[in-house]
Amino acid sequence: MQLHGVNTFSSRPSSDVLILPFWQGKKGEPACPMQEFLPIYHTTEGDFIGKEAETLFLYKKGAKENRILLLGLGKKENCTKETARRSYAAALKQCRKKKLTHLSVALPESEIPLAVAATEGLLLMNYTFDSLKSDSLKEDPPQVVQKICLIGISKETLSLCKEAEEVVDGVNFARDLVNGNADDVTPQMLCKKAQELGKKFKSVKTTILDKKGLEKANMGLILAVSRGASQDPALIVVEYRGAPSSKETIALVGKGITYDTGGLNLKPTGSMETMKDDMSGAAAVLGTIKAAATLQLKVNLVGVVASTENAIGPRSYKPGDVYKSYSGKTVEISNTDAEGRLVLADALSYVQDHYKPSKIIDLATLTGGIVVALGEEATGLFSNDDNLATALAQAGENTHERVWRLPLYPEYREALKSSIADMKNSADRKASSITGAMFLLEFIKKAPKETRWAHLDIAGTAFWTHPRYYHGTNATGVGVRLLIDFLKNEESL
Ligand code: BES
Ligand code: MN
Ligand code: ZN
Repeated sequence: MQLHGVNTFSSRPSSDVLILPFWQGKKGEPACPMQEFLPIYHTTEGDFIGKEAETLFLYKKGAKENRILLLGLGKKENCTKETARRSYAAALKQCRKKKLTHLSVALPESEIPLAVAATEGLLLMNYTFDSLKSDSLKEDPPQVVQKICLIGISKETLSLCKEAEEVVDGVNFARDLVNGNADDVTPQMLCKKAQELGKKFKSVKTTILDKKGLEKANMGLILAVSRGASQDPALIVVEYRGAPSSKETIALVGKGITYDTGGLNLKPTGSMETMKDDMSGAAAVLGTIKAAATLQLKVNLVGVVASTENAIGPRSYKPGDVYKSYSGKTVEISNTDAEGRLVLADALSYVQDHYKPSKIIDLATLTGGIVVALGEEATGLFSNDDNLATALAQAGENTHERVWRLPLYPEYREALKSSIADMKNSADRKASSITGAMFLLEFIKKAPKETRWAHLDIAGTAFWTHPRYYHGTNATGVGVRLLIDFLKNEESL
């Protein structure tokens, strides 16, 4: 994508379409100075009133563009960054339908800065995943917008929009990994992607623990989950050093189950079909590190991805058996379908041991319970630290990747008691998202002081069953925009 900017209408290059923003009103109100275009606008006879994401094409011969697209932003007093994302995404969708590739985009004049949000909406909507379609159905070249010129933008704002473009690249990197076939996106493929990041950025170093390495390190829980799989498991460690003079490191830990059949506690038909998305946490971690390295954020990160397939086979780990974790704690497997917390437990212990992070954030498609509780609209947040929880909630508001906090009362720990081991890996249906998080909390170090930790359950937000706003069906890449926003605030601390 080529993203340009000009100060005034008169300096814009010619293109396929000019997008003009309007606030909602009886006939819509121009949201930026556009005198020369008002005559053609007045031909609309009131058909267009500027409602949020409302669009109308108008045609004019002999102008710099053959088409003008009127775009509604809703009522001026209600307009938020999210309104701008959704509305500009709607405009881009209309342009893609008409196979327009070069856009000139006017931005609204408003008290809150909407240019960056508008750019996010445009770029997020410009994603295609068609590598699994046959050539006859594939559009060649893929029908995406190639050039956008933003009108009415300063140099400083344009550079922020270009940063947004790098973040969206991180989102699309995550979307691609999640949308890919589970048989293609294996633990080895995730290793390769992580190693490529290490090659691309001087500031990034990738280390892999393969099956042998996991055995040597006694990562008993990752190994247990991987027993049924035909491909080896891996623990992927991606270090990004953007603040070499700082001693602080933030750990990002991702669940990387490349396919979740449930194991011997097999999932029924209807529950398994989307389970290639069970590595969405891993994808978000890798996408975030890619974006952070591109933007050269002044933070130190260590990304850890625990990856294996949760498959079914003669060697599968068994309900009722007990396995020893890397931390030494033993776990009775009460359900092989509660595998995410097992691989995360070893990854959490490992990263605390080796990197002593000041904060840990894990991302995981951990429970169906969070989908019941929050649907696809919000990510579940669990944390032992109020400040960290607040900062993530703020990042959620800023990016509209919203998070909603649930409690970690010690009483919930009761449900994980085992008669034969230190704990079991699942309880009954009650508060299943919370008991999942409580399991993880058992692997957060309490001494000398408790590590600040947050767990994001993205089971509902990572993969959508129908297209909305600036996402199509399937992977959303959730977590990347949230974490980059969060990390930008960490820079100044
Ligand atoms: N990967 C699933 C959770 C999930 C559900 C992700 C729906 C995305 C959409 C996870 O491994 C799982 O199976 N969780 C079980 C845990 C239970 C057995 C304690 C669940 O939530 O049902
Ligand atoms: Mn499962
Ligand atoms: Zn799972």
